[in-house]
Amino acid sequence: MSRLFGRMVVAMMPIMPRFVVRWISRRYVAGVDMESALRVMRKLESQNACFTIDVLGEEITSIEEADYFIEEYERLLKMIVKEKLDANISIKPTAFGLLIDRDKGLANIEKLLREAAKHEIFVRLDMEDHRVTDDTIEVCLAMHEKGLENIGVVLQARLFRTNADIENICSILGPGADFRICKGIYLEPSEIAHTQYKEIVDASNEAIDKMLDGSSYVAIASHDLPVIDHALAALEERKMGPGVDDPRPAAPPPRKGKGEGYEFQMLLGVRGDVRRRLASQGHRTRVYIPYGEQWYEYSMRRLRENPTVAWHVTKAMLMPWTNKR
Ligand code: FDA
Repeated sequence: MSRLFGRMVVAMMPIMPRFVVRWISRRYVAGVDMESALRVMRKLESQNACFTIDVLGEEITSIEEADYFIEEYERLLKMIVKEKLDANISIKPTAFGLLIDRDKGLANIEKLLREAAKHEIFVRLDMEDHRVTDDTIEVCLAMHEKGLENIGVVLQARLFRTNADIENICSILGPGADFRICKGIYLEPSEIAHTQYKEIVDASNEAIDKMLDGSSYVAIASHDLPVIDHALAALEERKMGPGVDDPRPAAPPPRKGKGEGYEFQMLLGVRGDVRRRLASQGHRTRVYIPYGEQWYEYSMRRLRENPTVAWHVTKAMLMPWTNKR
């Protein structure tokens, strides 16, 4: 039902006036510029949230376009430092040119990473569709090899390969591995990915356990209670939690701006009630803050990639009590 409804909305999108899309996306996109994002974060700080900030935009078509992202992210790092924000950044490797010119793309990412490292700011490599899974993981490993450790990847539980990726990354980086685990927004083919809700939840929970047992840092990025409740139980089982030093024997001391081995992450505008509950229990909670001029393309692409999102968005508008900001 949710997917069918979503497909109907997606089919109507081309005739939807831009201002309607803007009005809907206001809840999920912090604004067109950094200053708007700052205003949103200032409000959320009072809810004990910290942040990961994303400059909207993905795959570029010419390597010169990467300059925009490098410059904007450099400005963003300066703002984080100047405003003393409890924030790190999320980047998409394809926006830095990885698929156009691999060496240049890597050099672009390294430049930004070095700048972030000066201020002990962590950089998360968002995970895009399966075409770039290997490349994204390789970027992370290559940067660690250069001694840049303020970087970690996202893994998508829906992909069959994820368990093997966790094992591989943990075996190379040891407790230096720092993951964000999410279900994965891209509806990947059934040859390579789970497609049913229950399978995806089970795979998410299995990945969380595996990451925790690998002594890595785990950012649990989900708004779904069966995943969150599983994560809470898994943490308790390992005697991890608010106000407790990470007891896992191989776990490193926490980095600046990070929790004791784990944190919860949610998207701006989604399930604020659950996030606030977790924060009030003392868990570190991070909000993903997207901003940028490409808000329209971003909103449309997300809906097209996964029509169920259209259902969530509509439900949040029509039944606001089911999904508080
Ligand atoms: P599920 O989709 O079942 O949602 C649970 C509930 O949350 C819904 O019932 C609804 O109430 C609410 N909800 C979820 N999404 C909503 C929306 N868009 N609008 C309104 N309500 C919504 N994916 C990826 O492929 N690569 C990545 O790098 C990232 N990065 C990332 C960072 C962070 C911080 C988060 C939270 C998520 C991602 N994702 C991602 C997206 C992720 O893979 C996944 O698609 C969404 O989080 C939705 O999955 P849930 O686990 O929340 O469950």
